[in-house]
Amino acid sequence: MRALRLDRFICSQRAEITRSTAKELCKARRIRVNGEIALKSDRQVDENADEVELDGERIVYRKHLYIMLNKPQGVVCSTKDGLSPTVLSLLPQEYARPGMFPAGRLDKDTEGFVLLTDDGELAHRMLSPVSHVAKTYFVRLERPCGEDYPQAFSSGMTIDGGEKCLPAEFFFSDEPCECTLILREGKYHQVKRMFAALGNKVVYLKRTAIGKLPLDTTLPLGGCLEILHKDVEKLTAL
Ligand code: URA
Repeated sequence: MRALRLDRFICSQRAEITRSTAKELCKARRIRVNGEIALKSDRQVDENADEVELDGERIVYRKHLYIMLNKPQGVVCSTKDGLSPTVLSLLPQEYARPGMFPAGRLDKDTEGFVLLTDDGELAHRMLSPVSHVAKTYFVRLERPCGEDYPQAFSSGMTIDGGEKCLPAEFFFSDEPCECTLILREGKYHQVKRMFAALGNKVVYLKRTAIGKLPLDTTLPLGGCLEILHKDVEKLTAL
């Protein structure tokens, strides 16, 4: 049993509710614990066992949140930016809780899968250069893919400035200018710089999977969905 104050429990799960609002909600008889109206916001609850409801709707306890975002172009992967909208501004209210951040970055003009979470430990495992978690990209190029590309990527390419890349997997597509690339590291502008090293240019880039978890193909650009238990493990699967 892990007991904590009811107002703390509510605030930890709902970013829009402050401690004083939680107190008011209790006074207004809008909070129930195990079916009973809870008038006191400083009472204890067990976050795993007690059922807390707001206006009849269960506040399900989750230690961490994992949100799949289909990032549109024009949005930046930082927590604050004076000029452009950030990925956090796309989080629906119900998921906007304290400590959420984008685990990893896509360029402003790159679309696709960004994980938003408050789990720093998982983000570290997913992003650490030593864990080699796969990131899959759909790429459209200015010019057709070369026959030599699979070998160039698999042998570990050197990009501008003499940076050595880990071997990457390249897959042709039916369209001559399109392909899929799987990287196991995340250097700055890496996909664009790798194709530039081959004399080509990326004109469109989308991240389509992290680890073994693909971006949901039904998720519209700008849309978010919660990743549930069994799929969270796929984010760090090799
Ligand atoms: N590589 C890039 O060049 N840009 C991205 O956004 C991600 C990977």
